[in-house]
Amino acid sequence: MKAIPHESANAHVTGAALYTDDLCGRFPDLLHAWPVTSPHAHARVVRISTNGVPNVLTAADVPGENDSGSVQHDEPLFPDEVMYHQQPVAWVLADTLEAARAGAAAVRVEYEPLPAILTIEDAIAAESFLAKPLNITRGETSLIDSTPLRFSGELKIGGQEHFYLETQCAIASLDENGGIVVQSSTQHPTETQDIVARVLGIPWNRVTVECIRMGGAFGGKEVQANPFAAVAALGAWKTKRPVRVRLPRALDMALTGKRHPFLARYEAGFRRDGRLEGVRIALYSDGGWSLDLSGPVIARAMFHVDNAYLLPAAEITGQICRTHKTSQTAFRGFGGPQGMIVIEEIMDQAARRLGLAPDLVRERNFYREGDVTHYGQTVKHPGRMQTIWDQLKTTSSFESRREATNAFNASHRHTKRGLAITPMKFGISFTATFMNQAGALVIIYRDGSVQVNHGGTEMGQGLHTKIGQIASDALEIPLDRIRVMPTRTDKIPNTSATAASASTDLNGAAVLDACMQLKARLAPFPDIAAAYRARVPLFAQGFYRTPGIAYDPATLTGKPFHYYAWGAAVSEVEIDLFTGDFRLLRVDLLEDVGSSVSPLIDRGQIEGGFMQGLGWLTIEELLWDAQGRVATNGASTYKLPSWSELPEIFNVAFLERAADPDVIFGSKAVGEPPLMLALSVREAIRDAIAACGPGGPVALPSPATPEQIFFAIQQVRVAEIAEAALIS
Ligand code: MTE
Ligand code: MOS
Repeated sequence: MKAIPHESANAHVTGAALYTDDLCGRFPDLLHAWPVTSPHAHARVVRISTNGVPNVLTAADVPGENDSGSVQHDEPLFPDEVMYHQQPVAWVLADTLEAARAGAAAVRVEYEPLPAILTIEDAIAAESFLAKPLNITRGETSLIDSTPLRFSGELKIGGQEHFYLETQCAIASLDENGGIVVQSSTQHPTETQDIVARVLGIPWNRVTVECIRMGGAFGGKEVQANPFAAVAALGAWKTKRPVRVRLPRALDMALTGKRHPFLARYEAGFRRDGRLEGVRIALYSDGGWSLDLSGPVIARAMFHVDNAYLLPAAEITGQICRTHKTSQTAFRGFGGPQGMIVIEEIMDQAARRLGLAPDLVRERNFYREGDVTHYGQTVKHPGRMQTIWDQLKTTSSFESRREATNAFNASHRHTKRGLAITPMKFGISFTATFMNQAGALVIIYRDGSVQVNHGGTEMGQGLHTKIGQIASDALEIPLDRIRVMPTRTDKIPNTSATAASASTDLNGAAVLDACMQLKARLAPFPDIAAAYRARVPLFAQGFYRTPGIAYDPATLTGKPFHYYAWGAAVSEVEIDLFTGDFRLLRVDLLEDVGSSVSPLIDRGQIEGGFMQGLGWLTIEELLWDAQGRVATNGASTYKLPSWSELPEIFNVAFLERAADPDVIFGSKAVGEPPLMLALSVREAIRDAIAACGPGGPVALPSPATPEQIFFAIQQVRVAEIAEAALIS
């Protein structure tokens, strides 16, 4: 379909686009909230004394359940035991933010400090886990023990801060007849409604949640918007005045969960020709203090340890560690990136041990027609991987640049270049099968103008743009006759989170369903006025559920995904051997977006997703200190990719003739997959490091910060010196 700009593109850049906090002006007698936060990572709350401060919210004020946990009820809103540094134990409301902040500082809290677990290793040692271990087994992994190449290793994988530009925000106010309305920057208005109702102890029909748009979310507002909406709602319930909760950046970074850091331990067996015989992979995620979405995140990591490769035998285990940190949560890719980085690590290790080209080893292990994943799903369209691979190698001039890179390295002592190509396969659907449903309400007014309501939220990803295009195409009317409305729980009930990249697939199909009903009803009439006079209903509800998916959560086998998104990336880097710094010289991306509903939106998602992945894998380093404080709690210490990290040459292309007949208008999901194309940057960096030594495997933790690159260079140089000594 047509390449058009994001529906709010102008408003985004001129500042006209409103976000939740911009609605404050509608509430003249607004109260502001500030948390009383714990100075300990782990402690018992002995006593809270308000010390004369008015409007302090504590557990005593909760009429319903004192809990905001999404999956399990394991997140007390006002805890007796604090589980991470700066966890709120009470909230203070006041007429100004400054007064609320001063009030929070005056509240006296007595704590009994307790020992804190702050690393995955400590959690494993203490057997501190948030759930039972998960396991997927396929085939005879004992075969590994007799393969010609057998090796084991460990990979540390860092987390990631969402750094959405709009921090967490909610405004709650009472309506005129006993209900409450919450404006929330949430990816999941229905769940926010659920949690608000739970905390207030009222039925869902008294709670309305609206999300006008988000200034970015990236998974960080899939469940973690809920506690802040609940605090605002509780404050409004108690005081009968509107209440605003909005976190400044440092507080947002201290209080909210991040991408899960992981530790992977693996064992792999290969044939001499580079074909994988089997793997044993143990994944440990740092879940933080509560379960949150850690269950499905680690399951997705376990599903994605194959990336695009057949694992003939596999034993994959997953454990979620409980640590005294923020509760780690959804983040673009949802565990997929942490799974895929492990197999890419293994492929590169194998190639360099066998003395084969890493791209050759990767290619030899691709899924082929008829192959089945380690979790039992037959891979649909596996041939696309080879098609994409061959095409990208040609368009990126991979082979000639390989030679040029080698020549460059032979003639440069203090800088080295690296080149790598990596594949990407990402499963589309919520792994929780029931979540793969969506609703829509399409309204035609008598003047012929149209309002489209659907269950998805807009966070910058362009969902509303795509929905508008789908409705315009289906109803055969110009886009400017259509308004896509803000997301409200009283328009479309019982919605799923806007997540898993599936929002156009699901909501778009629901909107299409409603539009097709309306079109059929209008067909006998010359115009809308005539249909109205004939008493034809001019509004319709649409619904969609993804067909044919189901899997067994106990064994983690079945068909969790409706289809796969495919892609590949070539990256070329140059590293500085004195500093470990790197420059990204050129990137070529080729992604299968099916038949794109909105090519400009998809291009933006691919560029943005890639850059976010690049940040995760190279410069974004989350550090916690020995007290459990997030040491990197602002843009000054937490480095984000920006202009200077953009590749000097950045080519993005879509796979052509790729329409998927099983998805709306032949399109494919695009929100998360491109993040994992950035794995090519990590592998290119490793390739450059390898050029500093005699060959052989290169250990590189993630993120590959300049420090880590520098250390890795020293390691391969030691290997080179040792080898030289042997020869002489
Ligand atoms: N793009 C922008 N600009 N902002 C975001 O917050 N979130 C990502 C992705 N792209 C995000 C984004 C994540 S984590 C997901 S799951 C998808 O968008 C969700 O939207 P979709 O289902 O419409 O692709
Ligand atoms: Mo995206 S991590 O599924 O919100």
